[in-house]
Amino acid sequence: MIALFDSGIGGLTVLKPVLKELPQYDYIYLGDSARSPYGPRSPETIKKFSEEAVEYLFNRGVTLIIFACNTASSVALRHVQQKYLKGDKEQDRKILGVLIPLAEEVTKQTKTNRVGVVGTKATISSQSYNSEIHKINPETKVYSQTCPLLVPIIEESWHTKPEATSILRKYLKPLKSTNIDTLILGCTHYPIMHKDFQKYMGKKTKVFDTGEVVAKSLADYLERHPEIEKKLSKSTPKKRIFLTTDDPAKMKTFAEKHLGQKIKMPEKITL
Ligand code: DGL
Repeated sequence: MIALFDSGIGGLTVLKPVLKELPQYDYIYLGDSARSPYGPRSPETIKKFSEEAVEYLFNRGVTLIIFACNTASSVALRHVQQKYLKGDKEQDRKILGVLIPLAEEVTKQTKTNRVGVVGTKATISSQSYNSEIHKINPETKVYSQTCPLLVPIIEESWHTKPEATSILRKYLKPLKSTNIDTLILGCTHYPIMHKDFQKYMGKKTKVFDTGEVVAKSLADYLERHPEIEKKLSKSTPKKRIFLTTDDPAKMKTFAEKHLGQKIKMPEKITL
């Protein structure tokens, strides 16, 4: 089984392209909505919440966990990999994040070596995107910007209102003057406003579709790791399990709207 873990419902923007790219596998989606957002929280808290999610998912027999959440990937991924993938267990299960696929894609695509990253406060202050990008190319200039109001705006479905566009423009103004030619939407929610980001940044800046990059990179990873791939279940009918720590009906509504398909009522769990 493959699990996608997110602080809440935003990770569905990653699940959607993953389901499209790799429909043959069984999936669990876990959204920790009761404790969302993670973005304004301290690294210690994000690490603790991420540990609890990982323990829960491994106890449910998951082989591969994808941290769809940029904040958890930035702050806690290395920590949980070190804690839960020691020794023999490393062979049987994996935890992957969203940063490396995006860092690889942006360094491949940039022509000017000037790239942008937008994300939550915790993601940007962790500097994790900078360090992944610099591991690939130390010459790349990384310009970052936090956009903290966008998560609540999108969750309230206010992102199509003019107020949302005007806030987005304010956030992006400093990035616009840096002449970046590529922009990473380093937050699960922002792809919902992809068109607005692209419109404001203009044709000279390519705004990545985060979920698609992650889905392609996962497909590539499974091809390179047949030892993990063969452990993933492919039931008939395919399993699509949704778990939430908060209101299942709320997750169901958002998931059906975003995925464009009916889902079973999510299971409410406690981490
Ligand atoms: N899922 C988070 C991320 O991708 C955004 C929401 C939150 O702050 O929890 O960074």
